[in-house]
Formats: sequence, C-alpha cells, structure tokens
Amino acid sequence: MKPRVLVSREISPEALARLKQHFIVDANQKDAPVSPAQLLRKLKGKDGLVSGPTEAVNDEVLAKNPQLKIVCNVAVGYNNLDVAAGTKHGVMMTNTPGVLDDTTADLTWALILAAARGVSNADSTVRAGRWKRWRVMEFLGQDIYGKTIGICGFGRIGRGVARRAMGFGMKVLYASRSRASESLEQELRASYVDKQTLLRESDVVTLHLPLFQETRHYIAARELALMKKSAILVNASRGPIVDEKALVRALKTRRIFAAGLDVYEKEPALAPGLAKLPNVVLTPHIGSGTVETRLKMSNMAVTNCIAGLTGQRPPNLLNPDVFTTT
Ligand code: NAP
Ligand code: GLV
Repeated sequence: MKPRVLVSREISPEALARLKQHFIVDANQKDAPVSPAQLLRKLKGKDGLVSGPTEAVNDEVLAKNPQLKIVCNVAVGYNNLDVAAGTKHGVMMTNTPGVLDDTTADLTWALILAAARGVSNADSTVRAGRWKRWRVMEFLGQDIYGKTIGICGFGRIGRGVARRAMGFGMKVLYASRSRASESLEQELRASYVDKQTLLRESDVVTLHLPLFQETRHYIAARELALMKKSAILVNASRGPIVDEKALVRALKTRRIFAAGLDVYEKEPALAPGLAKLPNVVLTPHIGSGTVETRLKMSNMAVTNCIAGLTGQRPPNLLNPDVFTTT
C-alpha cells in the first residue's frame, strides 16, 4: 500500500506531480482555507503532510495522528511547527532554507526604498487624481544612499540584504545571536553591534529573525523610542516580531519616519489604523513570492517528503534525532 500524503495548501503543479508518482495524495489545489479542525480531520490516515506556514502542527495534532511520519513546511520559517513535539512523537519536520534568500532580500529592498520615498502614498495620490502640480517641498522622502542600515538577524536573508546595501554605499551594522566570521564581516563590510547601538545609529532598521518566544515583540515601544526620528523600519520576517500597535502609534506621531511591512501579527488582519497611515508600505507576505522561488520551495518540500517516506534522510530535517534507518 502506497503511503498517503496531505498537501494542505496549493503548491506548484510540477512539484505536486512528482509527489503523485510516489504516494496517494490528497491535495488542496483550490487553496481552500483549512481550519485547525479540518486539518485534524484531513490528516486521518495520512503518513505525510506538506504544509504551508499557516498550519499549526502542534502536540495535539500529532497526538491525534500517531500514523504521521513527516511534516514538510513549504517555508523556511517554521514557527507554525512544534519541532519539540515532533521529536516527542517521532515525526520528522522539514523546511525550505536557502532557495528564497535572494528573492526575500530583493523584496526587503523594495520595501526599504518604497518606505523611504513614500511610494505607496505618492502612487495612490496620483491614481486618485489628487496630484495637482509639482512642488519643491512636497512628497519629500529620505535618502538611502550612503546612510547606515541596521540588520537584525544576520542569517541567510539578512546577509543577502547586507550584500545589496553595498551597492547603495551604506554602512552596515548588524545585531544577531551569534557573530559572523571575520572574513564575512570584511566581505560585507558589516560591523557587529548590540541591539541598542543598532537602533540608535541606523537610518534603516530591517528585521530578519526567526519567530521564537524570545523574539516576539523584539521591536516594541521601548525600541521604537531609541530609533532616529528620520528612521525607517522594515519587517519581512514574521509579524509578531514587531508590536504592531506600538508601531502604529510611532508612525502616527512621527516618532519614526516610515515603515515597510510584509508580515503582520495576526495575518491577514492589520492592527487598527495601520492601513490608513500614509507613511507605511504594506505587502501581503510576498517575501519569497516569485514564480521561480515558489517552484523551488514546492519542489524542496516534496523532495523532503519523498525522502522521509522512502526511508531516506530528508535533506532539510529540523529534528535529526527522529531519523532512524531501522
Ligand atoms: P536564518 O538563516 O536562520 O537567519 C536567522 C538569523 O537570526 C540567524 O543569524 C540567527 O542567529 C538570528 N537569530 C536567531 N534568534 C535570534 C535572537 N533571539 N536574537 C538575535 N538574532 C537571532 O533564517 P533566514 O533563512 O534568514 O530567515 C529568517 C526568517 O525570515 C525566517 O525564520 C522566516 O520567518 C522569515 N522569512 C519571511 C519571508 C517572507 O515571505 N516575508 C520569507 C522568508 C523568510 P544564529 O546564527 O545564532 O542562528
Ligand atoms: C515565508 O514566510 C517563509 O518563511 O518561507
């Protein structure tokens, strides 16, 4: 009997076809919303799950599905997966690191530039026919070239953002859990500083941390108060890393100049007032959203699933202790 796999979100058709060569697949290609109760129901009898970053796979889900062997996230961020519970229940868990770094760094830069120059507000003013004449002192943004960028979380994506900052002649500061090698610091002309120094000295603060308990509200009122009044905050990591209500207050009172957000605390909902602010640029969690990269992510998740259910070690295993060849 072939193993059974649930694919809980739409993935690329090419990757789905590969999965179907190996397993009996229950796929949600219409991308209908899947509630936690539906997820539990659909997982019955399944050996594998290919999940989006929106499905919470926790102790309860795993306890109620003892036949499940592997969960493969189509995302690098895996805050929706309880990896410790996976290990406890002997379920392998995987993610998609590396294939989306440049794509997400590019989107980060789109947000930095759009926030600095007020592109969303300018665009909607022109579209609404409210632009009447050119003025010297209207629609004034902040220069980015030659300024200081502060990168929080200096991993794969954070380093991609730093690499691009070199083209803008920027001074690069970073704060991260661990310090990069001297050679990488030299290559990217990046200086390791503490979080407070980064917040005080940066013209652009950009967030590339994973969401853990200790990174929740990494930026809140206290941190916003340390930033320059002319500074820009960008978040292309996970919404709860920023206290969104505090950010709305800071933008409203011009405590900081502008923000660019790709992720939100309670997606797809926004904090009250956020959407009305002219000094924020909002995108709908599209950091990795290009044709090429979503295909790579889908294929990576499928490769992990095929490996895990055919007795091989999945290449992107988050809990290696679970893998046994016996
Ligand atoms: P990564 O390579 O693991 O980098 C994360 C970095 O953050 C690492 O350098 C890590 O330090 C550091 N870090 C971890 N905990 C920290 C803490 N408490 N304080 C300071 N630094 C800490 O991950 P990545 O591939 O760059 O992805 C980063 C995150 O971006 C993902 O987790 C995901 O949530 C998000 N993301 C969003 C999108 C989107 O569509 N908007 C797309 C892709 C990814 P160590 O080196 O010590 O581990
Ligand atoms: C997307 O948000 C990811 O973590 O890959």
